[in-house]
Amino acid sequence: MCGIVGYIGSAEAAPILIDGLRRLEYRGYDSAGLAVLDGGALDIRKCTGRIANLAALCEADMPLGQTGISHTRWATHGGVTAANAHPHLDANGRLALVHNGVIENYQQLRSTLIEAGHAFLSETDTEVLAHLVGDHYDRIGGTPSRERLLAALRRALGQVSGTYGIALLHQDLPELMVGARRGSPLVLGVGKNEHFLASDVSAIVTHTQDAVYLNDYDIVAVERGHFEITALTGKGVLHEISRVEFTAGDVSKGDYPHYMLKEIHEQPDAVRDALRGRLSHEEASAKLGGLNMTPGDLRDIRRLILAGCGTALHAALAGEYAIEALAHLPVEVEFASELRYRNVPMDPGTLLFVISQSGETADTLAALREGRRKGLRTLGICNNVASTIARESDGGVYMHAGPEIGVAATKTFTSQTVILVLLGLLLGRMRHLSTTEGIRLLEALEALPDLIRTTLQVGDRMREVAQKYLGCRGMMFLGRQFNYPIALEGALKMKEISYLHAEGHPSAELKHGFIALIDKDLPSVVIAPDDAVFEKNLGNIEEIKARKGPVIAVGTEGSGLALERVADDVILIPKTLDVLTPILSVIPLQFLAYHTAVALGCDVDKPRNLAKSVTVE
Ligand code: G6P
Repeated sequence: MCGIVGYIGSAEAAPILIDGLRRLEYRGYDSAGLAVLDGGALDIRKCTGRIANLAALCEADMPLGQTGISHTRWATHGGVTAANAHPHLDANGRLALVHNGVIENYQQLRSTLIEAGHAFLSETDTEVLAHLVGDHYDRIGGTPSRERLLAALRRALGQVSGTYGIALLHQDLPELMVGARRGSPLVLGVGKNEHFLASDVSAIVTHTQDAVYLNDYDIVAVERGHFEITALTGKGVLHEISRVEFTAGDVSKGDYPHYMLKEIHEQPDAVRDALRGRLSHEEASAKLGGLNMTPGDLRDIRRLILAGCGTALHAALAGEYAIEALAHLPVEVEFASELRYRNVPMDPGTLLFVISQSGETADTLAALREGRRKGLRTLGICNNVASTIARESDGGVYMHAGPEIGVAATKTFTSQTVILVLLGLLLGRMRHLSTTEGIRLLEALEALPDLIRTTLQVGDRMREVAQKYLGCRGMMFLGRQFNYPIALEGALKMKEISYLHAEGHPSAELKHGFIALIDKDLPSVVIAPDDAVFEKNLGNIEEIKARKGPVIAVGTEGSGLALERVADDVILIPKTLDVLTPILSVIPLQFLAYHTAVALGCDVDKPRNLAKSVTVE
């Protein structure tokens, strides 16, 4: 949430910063700004709106200088105004700072600074931090030096509570850029005689694939050809330069009009990559080496808690059904935001699995930390390599889905769901699941990428369906058993990007409330594959039709004829094992949301008020 890009080198900083911000726009996009150091002077530009507005602001009169920091904002403290946009300056206007995260005690610090004569130009917590660092810098006094600025920063960070990923510049020190993190990600890009700071490597991957992922409490002093990482205490910190897995091509839209559409089409590859090297025919099981658990540890598991937010939570729900079916283990799914404050009984036989594409979602991270605090073994399913969750968990499974830029998650949902099925298979084969059943599942998993490719052909049909129901006042999504989580996910996709009111429910809940809403203007999407509960779903469709509610049915080849008789629109997907159906049935729903949003003129990849990675509570 919010994006930071910093540059120090021999090229002009402003175009690099603007390009980087464009790549980070999915993290937040209500206002943006940059600061460039031109010799001894700071040139600051900020405005509300998208990065395009900032680019336009700079175009006529590009700020000159080879050192700069920049920010794209998702407002937390203070409204969306140019004054609240970052960078913020200290009291003397000599230090510029950009910040992701929340300074929780900013009101108290602000009052103290006001008493000492400081005047603030914005309502933000970030400006308080900028003043605080500047204040310490002035109090330390003496000759301007790197050590003086770092000492000031350390004192300031020692006073704040909350989270931060920051980058800052000082006019006195034009050859220096400083970064620090606690709770909000920050990565250092290492180039040839140039360095970058970013909240996400996708901002800088066009320039370098060598990166140092900073840890909490790290402070990095960056110069053109050199950098040094120290802890908040001042002690030196060892670091490792990692090679970023993906390239600039992976973060471009290619020929697609939107990232979301590209990512929907990347699902066969995402699932193939999630399965790669993880299927063992010999043992009729899955291999998940990253769990860092012995077969004995895995057999000792008595209960699983799966936690996440948004789409990741829906993948957890799909996982709950799959793991229960395959391994007969009790599984609980928890909103990470609730789990972190609940007193859920956690005995040593409980395994906590947190699921997060970004690996940075604040609530999911807090749930993980709560589990660790209570002595649980904690695992993560993440897409972003070296993300905080990936690093803080005892082990886990990487998705390898490649960068997902569209705010509405698509390919990472299918990837997470597949990984949870693999987990169910692995745990099942250590318990009740037979070799024959294991092999049957392995074969179905191997066939999945091709079946997804076939399912993608429903895209054009879903565009027609979206057009047909464009004037509706909302949409209901229903599913049973394995497809109940898909009803939730279909509704979430629709809400997120088309702003249409949408609700997902277990089909049978129809009669317990929302049937009162059904009329000719409220279509229902019913997921009704040819499975053990098909007849039950059919009954629910009849009930909706009896109240003149239009029905869009998603079925499988075997259920087509029966659905044609009752539903207004029938979309057929290929047949697979029941446990794997959600991975296919979600695809028409992704397309439905996408085409509805496009037809309504919504900004598909950057829906209003949302951000890809929610790094504040
Ligand atoms: C935000 C995004 C969602 C995402 C959720 C969890 O709300 O808009 O698309 O599902 O965060 O993100 P995570 O990175 O933890 O999977």
